Formats: sequence, C-alpha cells, structure tokens
Amino acid sequence: MPRLAINVDHVATVRQARLAAEPDPVAAAVFAELAGAHGIVVHLREDRRHIQDRDVAVLRKTVKTKLNLEMAATREMVEIAQKIKPDVATLVPEKRQELTTEGGLDVAVFENTLKGVVETLHGSGIAVSLFIDPDAKQIKAARKLEADYIELHTGTFAEAKSFADRQEQFERLITAARLAKKLEIGVHAGHGVDYLNILWLKNVTEIEEFSIGHSIIARAVLVGMDRAVREMLQLIG
Ligand code: PXP
Repeated sequence: MPRLAINVDHVATVRQARLAAEPDPVAAAVFAELAGAHGIVVHLREDRRHIQDRDVAVLRKTVKTKLNLEMAATREMVEIAQKIKPDVATLVPEKRQELTTEGGLDVAVFENTLKGVVETLHGSGIAVSLFIDPDAKQIKAARKLEADYIELHTGTFAEAKSFADRQEQFERLITAARLAKKLEIGVHAGHGVDYLNILWLKNVTEIEEFSIGHSIIARAVLVGMDRAVREMLQLIG
C-alpha cells in the first residue's frame, strides 16, 4: 500500500484569514497522524501566506511520522531547512502571484543551482525530493542530481477535461513512474489528487507516496460541519 502524506497548508490558510490562533495546522497534523497518515507536509512559502515559521518549528517537535517541508530552492529556505531538519525537503518552483504551485521544477534547466542545494541538504542529513512534471528529461536530471525522490506533478492529469486527455496524462504518469523506479529513485506523487482520481492513481504501483492537501482539507470542513453546528446548538441550549 502506498503511503499517504497530508498537506495541512489549507488549515493555516483559514487561520491566516483572521490572523488568529485557530485552526492550528499543528493540531490538524496530530489528528491526521491519529487517523493513520504516514506523513505531514507543509509548504513554507516566501510570502508566508499560510504556514508560518513557528508552525514548521513546532511540527518538527510534534510530528511522529515524517515531516516533509516543501520549499523553494533559495538560500533563506535552505538555511531554515538546515535548522529545522525535516525528514524530507521537497524542492518546488515558487511564484509570488500563483494560487498554488504551478507546474514542476525545471531540473534539467536549473541543474547547476539545484546541485548545490541538494548537496547542502544531504550534508545536513535531509532527504531530497524534486517536484517535477512526468517527463523523462526531468527524471534523468533528478537522477543526475542524486535526488532521493521525485514527486510527480499530477496536476495536469487531475485537471484533464476529457477522458482521452486524462488517459493520455495517466499514461505519461505511468511511463514516468516506471522510469524513475528503473533509475532507483523513490516516487511520490501529488497535486490535485482527490477522492475520484485516486482510483486511477492507486493503480500506478510504482508510486510509493501520495501527497494530498486540498481535497482532504475540503472534505474535513464539510464532514465536520454537522458536528460543529450541533455542538454550538447544544451550548446555546
Ligand atoms: N505536492 C506539491 C509539491 C504541492 O505544491 C502541493 C500543493 O501545496 C501538493 C502536493 C498538494 O496538492 P493539493 O493541495 O492539490 O492536494
């Protein structure tokens, strides 16, 4: 069975909407682990729009499974990672204006910059994952950089509008996952994975871990609504 890592960024998004203390992504991570999640993922963005430095520091102390820190390959983030020491650092491209990560890292083009970052993280005992499109050129470049894992960007597959397009994107993911496995790189996958498309993706047996945020947090809000309302009604009496 593949592992399931939960991205709790959206819990922090709700908290930051009010600049309040709740809901705390750290508490969400505890519940996720109690439910059986195999890992916790957070993206500390340059603009700190959701996850804060404090969250990452506290999660390092509380996460009992595996902490995966998604980050841009910048000097600031590398220094934070060296201090925090997540189990895994996933390098992602980051643009200020984007709503969420758009597309994979171009490892083939930024090989020289990434080489130093991967070496520094490895030197601090942190495993490195590279978030890339399901493309042979990127996988071979990731191998050359000695990345421990790749995370296959499933967004294009998830957003496919027609069945034919979805099938085509699915084939791309299968081919990419097989190549990575052949090159002995661990395979993670994520972005846009939901309760429907997981039924396709779970058949890609080379995928060792799914990183899922939006669909699970969205469902948690809805399935928790009934209880939250009943509890308030009870207090009102
Ligand atoms: N993997 C990476 C590299 C991401 O940037 C994100 C989004 O933060 C995810 C996985 C999770 O994507 P989603 O929130 O669509 O499940």
